[in-house]
Amino acid sequence: MSVNLNVNGKNLSVDADPESPLLWVLRDHLKLTGTKYGCGVGQCSACTVLVDGAATWSCQLTAGSAQGTKITTIEGLEQDDKLTAVQKAWIDLDVAQCGYCQAGQILTATELLRSKPKPTDKDIDEAMTRNLCRCGTYTRIRQAIHAAAQMAAKGERV
Ligand code: FES
Repeated sequence: MSVNLNVNGKNLSVDADPESPLLWVLRDHLKLTGTKYGCGVGQCSACTVLVDGAATWSCQLTAGSAQGTKITTIEGLEQDDKLTAVQKAWIDLDVAQCGYCQAGQILTATELLRSKPKPTDKDIDEAMTRNLCRCGTYTRIRQAIHAAAQMAAKGERV
């Protein structure tokens, strides 16, 4: 069996069970290991990827259901060796602690800033509440999203 996926701008035919969670196809078949397995039940958001621009739990979506969509993983944000404003802000503010949740955090923040370029603290808290961080980096995440919004306002790609 195979599934046809568009991942990070590439059309790929993958020899995988269409019923398999997208998470495992990304990690095990495509070696895109930036996407993390956290809880496996759609509670923590460590496995978040963008599906047609929407932050989506890849543990809860089958690979077959993801056919016909555009999937972006953390590896797909960088373009021409250039990081996005969100990635730069994350580095500038040293957001990550253990780092395990951070790919999911960055992708959720990316969706937020693409839809709401100047989010308030309330907007950020509402959007990011789905992403758990056991290291408690929430304050720096909020600061980094504001910093990324400022970079984006000056023309940086989100
Ligand atoms: Fe460790 Fe978020 S940085 S879980």
